[in-house]
Amino acid sequence: MDEVRLREVVASDVETFFEQQRDPIACKMAAFTADDPNDRANFLALWTGILANDEIIKRTIMLGDTLVGNVVFFFQFGMPSVGYWIDRKYWGRGIATQALTEFLAIATERPIYARTAFDNLASQRVLAKCGFVPFDRDVAYAAARREEIEERIFVLRS
Ligand SMILES: CC(C)(COP(=O)(O)OP(=O)(O)OC[C@H]1O[C@@H](n2cnc3c(N)ncnc32)[C@H](O)[C@@H]1OP(=O)(O)O)[C@@H](O)C(=O)NCCC(=O)NCCS
Repeated sequence: MDEVRLREVVASDVETFFEQQRDPIACKMAAFTADDPNDRANFLALWTGILANDEIIKRTIMLGDTLVGNVVFFFQFGMPSVGYWIDRKYWGRGIATQALTEFLAIATERPIYARTAFDNLASQRVLAKCGFVPFDRDVAYAAARREEIEERIFVLRS
């Protein structure tokens, strides 16, 4: 397999992120998505803000020469948090695990948290492989499912 590596996000990556995050199967899995993942203007505005915000650490995930996703550190409800998204064509190859492992050497704040839908077992597995452990539960509105669902919160303490 080609090498997984992280690089700085450039503005032209955002169009690819948009295509990746509007995949309906991926949205259902992630659950906590934008109200309308097909709203390009909204997505571009969100990423314009992310790119301008130095508090947010963001990296593009590359597999060889192919842009396969992104990984982001941000503050959610005041908690230092991490989130990631991989193009569905590349799922199940260990890319998220490898990317998050590398990212955690860049985003070094601890503890660091991550939230997943209760049934997003792939994401929970990625977190477990990177050393996260269960921390708490919450209930929140999941736009991709049009209902409130349970959210699992995980923490990496060191
Ligand atoms: C979650 C996501 C990032 C995983 O990416 P990935 O590159 O496929 O992840 P990896 O290959 O590194 O690891 C996935 C692990 O989950 C496991 N897995 C996948 N589906 C599973 C399921 N239904 N039940 C249990 N484990 C599952 C895989 O077997 C693998 O574990 P293993 O290495 O022990 O075999 C990707 O599916 C994605 O981007 N989904 C949409 C966005 C999203 O949910 N982001 C996270 C929001 S919290």
